[in-house]
Amino acid sequence: MNNKPLKAERLDKLLTSLGYGLRKDVRFWIKDGLITIDGECPSSPAQKVTPDKVLLMEKPLDHPYGLTFIYHKPLGAVCSRKEDGHLIYADFPERWLVRKPALSSVGRLDKETSGLLIMTDDGQLNHQLTSPKKHISKTYAVTLHSPLNGSEADTFASGKLVLEDEEKPCLPAELTIHDETHVSLVLHEGRYHQVRRMFAAVGNHVETLERTHIGALSLQDTTLAPGEYKTLTPESLMALVKPTNQSD
Ligand code: URA
Repeated sequence: MNNKPLKAERLDKLLTSLGYGLRKDVRFWIKDGLITIDGECPSSPAQKVTPDKVLLMEKPLDHPYGLTFIYHKPLGAVCSRKEDGHLIYADFPERWLVRKPALSSVGRLDKETSGLLIMTDDGQLNHQLTSPKKHISKTYAVTLHSPLNGSEADTFASGKLVLEDEEKPCLPAELTIHDETHVSLVLHEGRYHQVRRMFAAVGNHVETLERTHIGALSLQDTTLAPGEYKTLTPESLMALVKPTNQSD
């Protein structure tokens, strides 16, 4: 994670890894005088450069030290690169989709779940945000089909609820009841369709599901409309997700 050193690398490798084009495109751009390094035209695509010195068509490079952003996943969008339909990746600039290392979501939300999703090309950050050892909770706003029966909060908090086709019980989760069909649920792990399966296990059905928080970061505070995103550094993201007074 964090502050990547200003490492010098080949100009063509740098630009291709940031998704700008192919090596042959870089040769053309040099020939056409579209690239400058510290104000000078480069002599060769093999020239070693640090990203901060490079301008392409007079513009600085786009997030050359890594790409991390928060995204308001809309209902109906799929967290996949391959499936049919509205894929979350269609909401991002095309250049971001061909960068290396590749961009991926931190965990997934179902097609029918909306809300806060983090996208990053930083494997270490991704691990930090998903590992149960790092204690980053996820909060969901849930609308239920049937009124609560009154025992759900205790069942979810017990650490004994076993989901269908699983052996290991779910970690204790906190249920806050707003009214008989509207609740918030805080999870400390991320299993496949977990919220829907937890309510199915207590005989109910989830009608709508939205992820409202990742740790202390709230979707509401981001002011992002569905489909919108905002880039952050991994450090500033972690500071929002996990304020410094929150222990490990
Ligand atoms: N739980 C679910 O059931 N779906 C999600 O998308 C996230 C958590």
